[in-house]
Order: sequence, then C-alpha cells, then structure tokens
Amino acid sequence: MFRVVCLLAVMALWSPAEALDNGLALLPPMGWLHWERFMCNTDCDTDPDNCISERLYMQMADVMAKEGWKEAGYQYVCIDDCWPSHQRDAQGRLQADPKRFPGGIKKLADYVHSKGLKLGIYADVGKNTCAGYPGSLGYYETDAQTFADWEVDLLKFDGCYMDWKLLGEGYINMSKALNKTGRSILYSCEWPLYEWPFQQPNYTAIRETCNSWRNYADVYDSWSSVKSITAWTNDHEEVIVPAAGPGGWNDPDMLVIGNFGLSHDQQESQMALWAIMAAPLLVSNDLRDICPRSKELLQNRHIISISQDPLGQQGRCTAKRKDSFEVWERTLSKNRQAVAVFNKQEIGGPRRFSLAEAPGWRICDPQCNVTQVLPQYKELGVQTLQTKTSVSVNPSGTTLLTVTPISRDFKLYWRSKTTL
Ligand SMILES: *[C@@H]1O[C@H](CO)[C@@H](O)[C@H](O)[C@H]1NC(C)=O
Ligand SMILES: *[C@@H]1O[C@H](CO)[C@@H](O)[C@H](O)[C@H]1NC(C)=O
Ligand SMILES: *[C@@H]1O[C@H](CO)[C@@H](O)[C@H](O)[C@H]1NC(C)=O
Repeated sequence: MFRVVCLLAVMALWSPAEALDNGLALLPPMGWLHWERFMCNTDCDTDPDNCISERLYMQMADVMAKEGWKEAGYQYVCIDDCWPSHQRDAQGRLQADPKRFPGGIKKLADYVHSKGLKLGIYADVGKNTCAGYPGSLGYYETDAQTFADWEVDLLKFDGCYMDWKLLGEGYINMSKALNKTGRSILYSCEWPLYEWPFQQPNYTAIRETCNSWRNYADVYDSWSSVKSITAWTNDHEEVIVPAAGPGGWNDPDMLVIGNFGLSHDQQESQMALWAIMAAPLLVSNDLRDICPRSKELLQNRHIISISQDPLGQQGRCTAKRKDSFEVWERTLSKNRQAVAVFNKQEIGGPRRFSLAEAPGWRICDPQCNVTQVLPQYKELGVQTLQTKTSVSVNPSGTTLLTVTPISRDFKLYWRSKTTL
C-alpha cells in the first residue's frame, strides 16, 4: 500500500504535457547529421569527399550499416542546410542541387532505406534558410508534400529569416502540413532557440508541435561550446526538463565526438551528459575516418541504454559544488538511477568524489548495486548509505554510473524509510 502511494506521488510529480501524436521519437532519436563537421561545403570540384552531395550521405549510410552504427541504434542519416537548388521548380517545389544530387532526393531515400536506415532533410520556417537557400514560408504544404513524396523520414526545420512573432504559427502550420501528408515524419524544431532572445517560449505548445526542439546555440567542435550548452541547460532546467518525455525531447545539438576539438575525457563527458539529458544522439563527424576509441564510446551500449531508457525522463544537475564537481542524475525505469560525476576543474590531476555525496545515493537505503559505465566498465557491487566508495574523475572528465536499488527485504526497506 505504502509503496503504491509513493509510486503515485512520483508519477504526479512528473507528467509531461501531451506530445505530438505521430507515433515517433518515443525514445530520443539517434543518427548522423552533417552540419557541424561538413557545414555548407558545396565545392565538389576541389573537395569531392567532403562536399554536400548525395555521395556523402550514401557513404555515411554504407558505413552506418557496415560498422556497427545501425546495430548500436543510430538510424537517421540527416541532411542539413545547403542541399537545395537556389530556385524552386516550375511547380514551386524545392529541388535538390542538380549537380551535387544528380539522382535527386527520392533516389537517395531509396538508397538509405535499402540499408535499413532512415533519411532526414532540412528546411526553414522563414523566407530563407540560414545559408540563404529558399525557405518554406508560404510553402509549408507544398514542401511537406514534397518531402513525403520523396519518402523522407525526418525534417529539421530551422528558424532563420522569420519574424519571431510568427515563429509559433509557422512551426505549428508546418506540423499540421506534415500530419496532412499521412507520412510519419519526425519533426525537429528550432522554435525555442529563436524565441528565447525575446521571451520565454511556451513549452507546452512546443511539445504538442514538435518531436524535438533546439533551445540554445549551435554546438562547435570545442570544449567551451559543450560546456556552455551544459551550463545553459542547468540554468534553465526548471523550464525545459518537464517538457521532455516520450514523443518530444530537448535537443542540446549534435555530438561532436570523433572530431578535433575535444580530449577523450571531454568526449566521455559529452556522451555521458547527453545520455543524462535524454538528448537526441545525432553525431556529426566523419564516420569514414574516426578513431577507434571515439567509435567505441559512441557505440557503448551501456551509455546508449541510459539514453534510450524507456521511462524517457530527462535528468538534471542535482548538485553543483564549490569544488567544481557537478552531479547530474537521471531517473531510469525500475527505480534505477544514472549518476554522472562531472569534474569541471581544468587544472591538476584526477580528483576523488565520494559516491555517498551524490543526492541520488539515497536509493542505496538499505542497499544498492552499482555499476560504473565510464571511464571503464566496472561492477562496484553492493553499496549502502554508509559506503565510503569513491571514484576518481579526470579534469573535464565524467564518471558515469548506474545505481540499482535492492529491496529484497521489503519490510526492512520500508521500516528504515519511515523511521528516517
Ligand atoms: C495526425 O494527427 C492525428 C491526430 O493527432 C494522429 O492520430 C495521426 O496519427 C497523425 N498522422 C501522422 C501521419 O502523423
Ligand atoms: C498559419 O496558418 C494560418 C491558417 O491557415 C494562416 O492564417 C497563417 O497566416 C499561417 N501562418 C504562417 C506563419 O504561415
Ligand atoms: C501555451 O500553449 C498551450 C497549448 O497550446 C495553451 O493551452 C496555453 O494557453 C499557452 N500558454 C500561454 C501562457 O500562452
């Protein structure tokens, strides 16, 4: 009885509003997205391997199917800006740049589908895309139908060149246009990112409209960028965390793991914190040429199972300490807990953190079972509230753990709880 009451209380504390009802993104989406690594490189004459062309996506799809990415859960191959021709066709439809996409998007979608993967495309709610290609303002139904005809599976809808007061209307109209096509197309929005400079966005409306939404600046291939995103998320968690759940997710932008800017410890921090944040895992790197350690990190099934936990509850920063440790925790299904101990100090060597100081450690009453997932997989075994176990965390690194409560002795468990 007591247990049921507690469970109901927990559920009442966390009940996200209605999600967009298109049956998609019940877990945070996973895939590859070209922007951070390949940007708007359209120079296929001198840089054919890295320019935005059908070849790039076909090669990424090949690697994803062959080298364990698909099995790990990475499913979407996503085009970002700079794919279209500067002119719409005679019927007013978007068309791919004919030189760089000679086969067209439908053929590319067929190819990606033949590998058991899904294709994502990019457009913009305003007059132009951020890089100056035709925007969808005034063409929402036409563009939604074009993407559906091409059998596209995801739309990233940017917010450049749009009157901010019309952002909500524009994103809602496109959501309806996508629905009207009858094809399930995952809808990735940037509505809050473009509204925050003017006012606090309405996350209830955003969750009803989009499957994921960018809140903050584009990620760069640098530690300062990754840090600024986690700091922003921490500062706004009261507003944004309750909006996340099955069907709709806060999007802190791409994983830049496997590129040039992050040390290995920093790559582990990004992976751990993105899993805690229930973020879409969209990697932007060159899958054809990636160091084995970064690949192993991105395909780490223990971290991915935290990201993809079926409860779908976004975690948050639960302790921010003067000694530059932060603890980030996420409630998982079956009362489990993911705990990330993040060492933000960027001087000195590894520092120890006593696990009993993590706020979520209270589920270790009377006992819990702890597994370290990062930096190395290690069973830490049974622990209690009194345990003095500590972990060592490198500068700008993160130790990631999962904590499973043990309440086999049910009576003892509740007796000790109620007498606290
Ligand atoms: C369109 O919306 C309705 C009602 O919300 C929903 O039942 C249906 O599955 C949606 N269709 C698509 C293709 O998203
Ligand atoms: C959204 O759709 C409504 C109803 O059709 C229309 O009046 C409005 O102008 C549209 N807004 C935008 C930004 O497209
Ligand atoms: C936010 O959006 C929801 C759903 O569309 C709406 O019911 C609510 O009134 C809006 N809230 C505010 C403060 O505008």
